Parts: sequence; structure tokens; C-alpha cells
Amino acid sequence: MWNPDVYMKFSDLRTRPALELATRAGPVPEGLIHDLGCGPGNSTQVLASLNPGARLIGVDSSTEMLARAADEGPARARWAQGDLETWAAEEPADLIFSNAAFQWLDDHERLLPRLLKSLKPGGRLALQMPQNFAAPSHVLMRAIASQGPWAGKLKPLLRHDPVGTPEFYYDLFAPLAASVDIWETDYAQVLDGDDPVYNWVSGTALRPLMAALDEAEGLAFSGEYKAALRGAYPERADGKTLFAFKRLFMVIGL
Ligand SMILES: C[S@@+](CC[C@H](N)C(=O)[O-])C[C@H]1O[C@@H](n2cnc3c(N)ncnc32)[C@H](O)[C@@H]1O
Repeated sequence: MWNPDVYMKFSDLRTRPALELATRAGPVPEGLIHDLGCGPGNSTQVLASLNPGARLIGVDSSTEMLARAADEGPARARWAQGDLETWAAEEPADLIFSNAAFQWLDDHERLLPRLLKSLKPGGRLALQMPQNFAAPSHVLMRAIASQGPWAGKLKPLLRHDPVGTPEFYYDLFAPLAASVDIWETDYAQVLDGDDPVYNWVSGTALRPLMAALDEAEGLAFSGEYKAALRGAYPERADGKTLFAFKRLFMVIGL
């Protein structure tokens, strides 16, 4: 279950890549944009602001996220519940956009080329996914989850890295597309407050693990994980924490 409040604690930092991706994808003066994994509607809001003449459909599987999107996302968007595993557009789009969603799905080799079938000729597919599987935040999460008394519950929930290299996506799309534009950005994110990296991952990767633990296990696990994160991401002299975060972007043109 997603919690829009926890996710949106870092709304500026989480929405920034959506703005950078939408800017690079270029304008859609009119026509249709699908925002896949729209979450609480923050990425849809970016698309609405940059494309005042376009129709917008936000797709997500989470009831909680879609409720927030309907409350706080752009009023002219339509919201649809759906699973990206099987999603196909009812009406072909000018732009299929997805910010920070497809890292939750496996088998990109099968799933992603299929999206091109939901585009109009000349349409674009714009995707961004975090590339943080090897970052200390995630390495420590997996290590602590695999070692403690909770390992029996948590190990089956640990994922392999679903996000490939730029070369992997280039080879996947180049035979199918007129243009393939791929880039990576390393953000040195500045976070405030106590245990900010823990708070960040609580809104995303940590969620399924904590949901599997009872209260006592959750407290013990989070205590150990927070202490490890404090060592990996020490506070700066001004009390802020730098959280290095790498993301992979691509814009595929038909
Ligand atoms: C990290 S949030 C991204 C939200 C927003 N796009 C943004 O830019 O911040 C990921 C979203 O993907 C959705 N999601 C994950 N797996 C999904 C699936 N299989 N089908 C549909 N939505 C999915 C989640 O419900 C969540 O709202």
C-alpha cells in the first residue's frame, strides 16, 4: 500500500526529474498524454503545466495514490486504475510518459517495447527510472533484511535490479524507433532533518519490507537500518545530509 503523505515529503526532489524529462520530451501542443505510474499526480501536474492544450490520463495501480491525484493533481486530467504489466492505451497517444514507476516492474525487455504500440506515428515515449540499486541506501537495506531474525520474512521480498544499462535500452529501442536519446543524471540531493535517507526510502523501496513486519520487528529492523544509514550518509556541518541519487532517462521517438 502506498502512502502519498510519506512519498510527497520530498515532493520537490521527486518531481524534479519529471520536469527535466518532460522538458526534454518536448511540447505536446494538443493531443493525448498518458502518465504511467502517475502516483499522487505530481508528474501529471508537470505535464499539464508544460502542455496546456493536451489531454491527460494518469494511470496507476494504487487506490491511495489515485485518490490523492484526483484531489491535488490537475483538474483537467482523467485518472485510471490499471496495471502497467498489462497496460495498453485505449487511444494511441502523442506522448507516453513515466517518471519513477517502471523500476517497480521486471522484464523490461518484454514490457517496454510494447508501449510503442500505444503511440501515434511520430509519438514519443519518455521514461525515467532510479538507478540506485547499488547505492548504500539499498545495499544496506538488503544486507540488514537478509541477516536479522526477520530474514525469513524479508528475503523473499528482496528484488533483483530491474533497471538496465543505457546500452541495454539503446539495443532494445534502436531497431524500433526513429530516435533514441538516453542520459543519466547524478543528483547530490540535500535532505533536511533526522534520518532523512530512512524517511526517503520509507516512501518507496522500504515500504514492502516494513509492511511484512510486526511492530516489534519493524522497530528493531528500522533501528538497525537507521544506524547504518547514519554511517553511510553522515550529516554535513550545517546539519543537512547529502543523498547521492542516480537516475536514468530516455526519450524514444517514433
Ligand atoms: C515512485 S511513484 C512515482 C509517482 C510519480 N510519477 C512521480 O513522478 O513522482 C511510483 C508509482 O508507480 C505505481 N506503480 C508501481 N507499480 C505499478 C504497476 N504495476 N501498475 C501501475 N502502477 C504502478 C505506484 O502505485 C506509484 O504510484
